[in-house]
Amino acid sequence: MVAQSKRSDDARSDLPVVGAGPWEFGGFYRFRGYVRRRLGLAITRVRHHRVRFGSLCDVRSGSHFAIGRRADVRFGDRCVLDYGFTLESSGHLEVGSGSVFGHHCTIAVERSVIIGKGCLFGEMVSIRDHDHAFANTETAILHQGRISSPVLIGDDVWVGAKATITQGVTIGAGSVVGAHAVVTHDLPPGSVAVGVPARIVRMRDGGPVPI
Ligand SMILES: CC(C)(COP(=O)(O)OP(=O)(O)OC[C@H]1O[C@@H](n2cnc3c(N)ncnc32)[C@H](O)[C@@H]1OP(=O)(O)O)[C@@H](O)C(=O)NCCC(=O)NCCS
Repeated sequence: MVAQSKRSDDARSDLPVVGAGPWEFGGFYRFRGYVRRRLGLAITRVRHHRVRFGSLCDVRSGSHFAIGRRADVRFGDRCVLDYGFTLESSGHLEVGSGSVFGHHCTIAVERSVIIGKGCLFGEMVSIRDHDHAFANTETAILHQGRISSPVLIGDDVWVGAKATITQGVTIGAGSVVGAHAVVTHDLPPGSVAVGVPARIVRMRDGGPVPI
């Protein structure tokens, strides 16, 4: 018997879209949130002067930044970094405006990570542009240095919770990465990829899945 996808494309288009409207918080809570976010960003800018934040970024408590002297780190306007966000960078990180990181996401940059606009990262996503070298069996891995290759994530990409993006990967604009996936190869724009290693299960526009 041929395995069936858990829902057909027709069924998927019938699913209700919920929560697309404006958030239903009262005016007081929205005002309090606004003040907290502005204060939080001001404090973060003072504490982490090597990181450049655009306007109206929302950096939640418990975020951790370890930024090297030669690093170049920029977040565009209105980015959201939920609590526990961790960034270690000795290279170039650029995040486009309006991108949102769930709690405890980690980005580690040796050379270059570029993330587009309006991306959405679930909680505990890990993005790294390097691995530890381990070719030499005579030397401890800890002492073999790192191998690094740039990571590029296009605009409007959604990465599910606990996914890992490994070094050298390009994820095309408008792609979706399933929860817990490990992305080890490039994904073309508009693809939906799941699993370990991440494999494309469909294209968002219904086109053929590239081999
Ligand atoms: C990938 C996802 C978006 C579903 O996309 P979809 O195109 O609707 O895919 P479907 O549900 O039709 O599943 C297609 C196939 O992939 C499998 N699949 C879906 N998500 C998967 C995942 N995360 N890991 C492994 N396999 C997965 C399905 O079981 C199905 O396999 P089958 O054809 O053998 O039955 C969803 O499963 C997902 O992972 N969402 C992330 C949720 C999340 O982490 N949110 C964080 C808040 S931002």
